[in-house]
Amino acid sequence: MKRYLITGASRGIGRAIAEQLAAPDIFLFLHGRDEKALALVAQLVRAKGAETLCLMADLRDHDAVKRLAGEVQASPLDVLINNAGFAVVKPFDQISLEEWNALLSVNVTAPFLLTRRLAPRMASGSAIVNVLSIAAKTGFANWSGYCMTKFALEGWSQSLREELRARSIRVLNVYPAATNTEIWNGVTGEWPREKMIVAGEIASAIGYALSRPADVALENITLSSVRGTL
Ligand SMILES: NC(=O)c1ccc[n+]([C@@H]2O[C@H](COP(=O)([O-])OP(=O)(O)OC[C@H]3O[C@@H](n4cnc5c(N)ncnc54)[C@H](OP(=O)(O)O)[C@@H]3O)[C@@H](O)[C@H]2O)c1
Repeated sequence: MKRYLITGASRGIGRAIAEQLAAPDIFLFLHGRDEKALALVAQLVRAKGAETLCLMADLRDHDAVKRLAGEVQASPLDVLINNAGFAVVKPFDQISLEEWNALLSVNVTAPFLLTRRLAPRMASGSAIVNVLSIAAKTGFANWSGYCMTKFALEGWSQSLREELRARSIRVLNVYPAATNTEIWNGVTGEWPREKMIVAGEIASAIGYALSRPADVALENITLSSVRGTL
């Protein structure tokens, strides 16, 4: 049985990934903070034959991230999906130090800590999927804190890929454009949901990349609306 960990699996893109990858030969570790939402996702993926365990951890807390890694490390993972993330959207001079540090902790340090702990035992043919954003390559007004984390994740992830190449562990980077999830509920302004792509498309692309032969690395996937960037 293959063992996958998906962070931020309680909703949005992470939930769609869980539903996409659920299959009878898969054990899904589903991470989040919202116990009820996670339980619902667990129910959905069990209906597809997968086995699951829900794991709660606030990724702003480095000790909680380390505990999360400890809870899945009894056997090596086959796929680690660093998906959890959040955004603070406001002018750069209104971002508090607390918000800045929380962005770094969840969007950058958590993937680093999880990968540092779990990748050393992963076998050849395993994969690490990092969910970045088009904001990993382009700056947007009022998104400086978020862009800072995704640019940082991009540099870390590219380097990680080169370090793991000799062990034939694939590092797949995914760059979604605006996707219709609850992340936008906390963003002020008019954001046309109907012009956004749906989370299932991100999940489907990840499913395709992971389904390639173990020696084929579909390393960078950008998904955006044909209508352009919002
Ligand atoms: N939606 C977009 O337009 C878009 C575009 C590009 C990239 N992305 C990236 O895609 C990823 C998923 O985003 P989404 O759109 O699916 O957002 P979402 O619907 O808001 O879901 C975010 C997930 O991350 C988890 N999370 C957030 N903060 C956390 C914390 N402090 N501790 C633990 N878990 C935390 C949430 O868990 P709980 O709800 O259980 O707390 C939830 O499962 C993020 O990395 C985001 O940056 C999104």
